[in-house]
Amino acid sequence: MDIVNKINQLKKEKQALILAHNYQKPEIQDIADYVGDSIELSRRAAEENRARMLVFAAVDFMAESAVILNPEKKVLLPSIGARCPMAQMFPLEQVKMWKKKYPKIPLVLYVNTLAEAKTECDVCCTSANAVEIVKALEAETVLFGPDNNLALYVEKKTNKKIIPVPPGGFCPTHLLFSSSDIASLKEAHPEAEVMAHPECNPEVQEIADFIGSTSQMCKYAKNASSNKLIVATEIGLLHRLRKENPNKEFLPAYEGAVCPNMKLNTLERIYHALKTEQTQVTVPATVASKARKAIERMYALLS
Ligand code: 13P
Ligand code: SF4
Repeated sequence: MDIVNKINQLKKEKQALILAHNYQKPEIQDIADYVGDSIELSRRAAEENRARMLVFAAVDFMAESAVILNPEKKVLLPSIGARCPMAQMFPLEQVKMWKKKYPKIPLVLYVNTLAEAKTECDVCCTSANAVEIVKALEAETVLFGPDNNLALYVEKKTNKKIIPVPPGGFCPTHLLFSSSDIASLKEAHPEAEVMAHPECNPEVQEIADFIGSTSQMCKYAKNASSNKLIVATEIGLLHRLRKENPNKEFLPAYEGAVCPNMKLNTLERIYHALKTEQTQVTVPATVASKARKAIERMYALLS
């Protein structure tokens, strides 16, 4: 029996679902029960009532969010080393330090943070709703972390004063894009539109026709009038874009834009996770209940 059949058989036996992020390898996206961006994956995890077990083909903070929102379920991360380096950039102690420095200013944390860090924030956001969340707050000055490029994007779109914390928080994969590479591609393909993730640097954002989360890019691409799109995000998204839009052409803004952490997941590791029910992601109950409030506040602020 091949690995895909073996995974499907185990999934049935164990009442498991595979949730995959848009950056996963094509073969993983193709066998997943659901493929989405971070807010869609956490929504799906929160609402899921058929499965007994969720296999998260993604990185650590996404699986942690699933545990926080659905503590009854067993959540498995097939590759324990799949850690988002940006989330590691803002540990709890540093979050506390910034809150102490600005006790009256609300702290908005990107979901790309560890559960512990979330316990100290006022509200969470994802790249799909960061602007809406900050707009919904009464405060005119907001602490925002850990991604400094997303913070700048939010500042531009809300006209509020954003204090990026910690200074220099970034995604190593999205910093690989350069505006000059994209300008050269645009010269060779003048009819192409550019889509970029808000984790890209401001020069890249400047030349983009559309800026959004990974799933928002999928929606934009479907309705785009141009049949050619340059994509400035992790290359895994190209598989979904091509699958959903067979008549459109998608050009990576940079072929080497790979998130090594996302790519640790393989079919073999997913099979092994299902078979052994390892590695289970856990979040202490006290941490989970505080972090849940920050995530639920995000949902409450979305109109
Ligand atoms: P999305 O929520 O847009 O999928 O982004 C998650 C992420 O890790 C981007 O690097
Ligand atoms: Fe983290 Fe960047 Fe990878 Fe997204 S692409 S999971 S932000 S390192």
